[in-house]
Amino acid sequence: MALEYDILDILCNGQFHSGESLGQQLGVTRAAIWKAIGKLNTLDVPIQRVHGKGYRIQGGLELLDQQKIASEIDNHKLINEIQVLPTVDSTNDYLLKLARQGCKSGTFALAEHQSKGRGRLERQWYSPFAGNLFCSVLWHFNKDPAELSGLSLAVAIALVRTLENYGISGLQLKWPNDVLWQQRKLAGILLDMIAEPHGVTKVVIGIGLNIKPTEDWAYLEEITPKPIERNQLTSLLINDLASSLVIFSDQGLAPFLNDWEKRDVLNGKKIKVESSNKAYTATAKGISERGELVIDHDGQQRTILFGTVRLA
Ligand code: BTN
Repeated sequence: MALEYDILDILCNGQFHSGESLGQQLGVTRAAIWKAIGKLNTLDVPIQRVHGKGYRIQGGLELLDQQKIASEIDNHKLINEIQVLPTVDSTNDYLLKLARQGCKSGTFALAEHQSKGRGRLERQWYSPFAGNLFCSVLWHFNKDPAELSGLSLAVAIALVRTLENYGISGLQLKWPNDVLWQQRKLAGILLDMIAEPHGVTKVVIGIGLNIKPTEDWAYLEEITPKPIERNQLTSLLINDLASSLVIFSDQGLAPFLNDWEKRDVLNGKKIKVESSNKAYTATAKGISERGELVIDHDGQQRTILFGTVRLA
């Protein structure tokens, strides 16, 4: 992937570059360039080839830049390290490995591409090269996993606040942690936990945010005409996420509930619930302080902590 990444680094300015000049700059043959560009095309990088002119990425591309991202961080005490990886299996799996090796809290991993991006419920997370945001953070909590049941909702709120401050409006939240726009999913959150002795839990929090057209999902470029500056947006997200994790650690979900209620797409609606191998219809009644979905099922109010839910 190193050659592919170096090619992108040149093509990202949006200009034409011939195979010959790319080969010369990178010290490889034109055939090697051709092969690497073929690989980038299979990873959905929109590289155009025009006879007599060469290769280009129309409109250019902003690659993630560790230094640019780090330069906009405002609370360095909360952040141990920010790593930018050209490609990785999954940023969550990468940080889980580091966590087991004793890596510190506040470590962020960002990738241009994931070969095995994971979603909730063992689903695959589509992770094309250099367009969307794949971001994970390792955070240590002095709490048992059971006390962290509302964490993914707090993370969803942090993400929505970042996007709204960036000028994106009309966002909705769907329990447990989907960010939607016009009823279509824009971003998802995946938590992996390692319970340690003495009431410490290490959590890897992964966020996938669609920026470019991504299958039939919502994506930022369709919501706003403003060009999305991925490095700036990533710094804002890291700042908001780190401060929200501190608030959640101290006060739980309570400070986030109001923001959830305002954007809750399910509240008051008829929903289909699939939980513990059972499927039934109920009415959504908001969120509890533990992050459970409150439902009215056959006239009885109950809460659910796991499961999938959709509008009926
Ligand atoms: C969901 O199913 O809604 C959760 C999707 C989470 C995807 C992100 S992308 C960054 C991190 N690495 C992964 O493999 N998954 C998460």
